Amino acid sequence: MMIRGEKLSDIEAIRDVVKAAFEAHSHSLQTEHYTIADLRDAGALSLSLVSEVEGKIVGHMAVSPVTISDGTMDWHSLGPVSVLPGFQGCRIGTALVNKGLALLRSMGSSGCALVGLPLYHRRFGFRHYPCLIHESAPHEVFVAKPFSRRIPTGTVAFHPAFKQLSVIEKETVADAIVDYDLSGIEVDPANPAVERLLEKEILTKMPDGKVMLQPTALTDYDPYFARVAQFRATEMSRVHKNPMLTAITS
Ligand SMILES: CC(C)(COP(=O)(O)OP(=O)(O)OC[C@H]1O[C@@H](n2cnc3c(N)ncnc32)[C@H](O)[C@@H]1OP(=O)(O)O)[C@@H](O)C(=O)NCCC(=O)NCCS
Repeated sequence: MMIRGEKLSDIEAIRDVVKAAFEAHSHSLQTEHYTIADLRDAGALSLSLVSEVEGKIVGHMAVSPVTISDGTMDWHSLGPVSVLPGFQGCRIGTALVNKGLALLRSMGSSGCALVGLPLYHRRFGFRHYPCLIHESAPHEVFVAKPFSRRIPTGTVAFHPAFKQLSVIEKETVADAIVDYDLSGIEVDPANPAVERLLEKEILTKMPDGKVMLQPTALTDYDPYFARVAQFRATEMSRVHKNPMLTAITS
């Protein structure tokens, strides 16, 4: 097995490995491959390591910069780590994480944090630090590994590429854009995407149980959808204010 940095020709294989690794993962929204692609597009892949076995890419790990609210510099986020299902349990994940940690130290990084599998990452020295919190992830799944005795105190913000909408969330937003109404939209309360969109404040609840789509809240997650939603909202409000247009369009 060889671990090396990604090449341009690896991009498709990396996407396939990441998609396959997270397909059966119970807590995944299957957006990890979008995050990696967006990090790459933003020039924010501090490390993109692949693991190759007999010329085939079977594992990948991304590393990207984070910011910490106390101003501490040079911290990173480690992950996602992905190993092709048929190759899991063969120490490929271990090799990727160890190589990533060694490279980060040699690059002068001060530490790294991740949202992942605390049980798995504990073996690499990651643990919970009460003074370090993630901007949105639950404490139980957020662990860190400082490379020196100095532990920052504050909120860790990952690169915006980690804010992704799942396919089902995107479909729900698309429906909300199509059905947009100034008095709110009826949604299926059993749709799990609705709850997640309410948490993200992309949908807000109206007193009558309907929801409103909030285009600006979409910006961090999907700038294209945000622009379409804003256009729809502006158009609806223009039609609403003009009785002639209302008469024509109704
Ligand atoms: C998690 C993952 C990266 C581990 O890689 P791997 O190559 O399969 O794991 P390794 O062979 O290096 O495992 C090393 C040890 O960790 C343990 N381990 C593996 N996956 C684990 C998990 N999900 N939770 C806890 N321990 C785990 C192994 O049992 C092994 O233990 P041992 O030393 O006692 O034998 C890989 O299974 C994967 O891609 N999973 C799906 C995606 C994912 O969950 N990524 C991590 C979150 S970003």
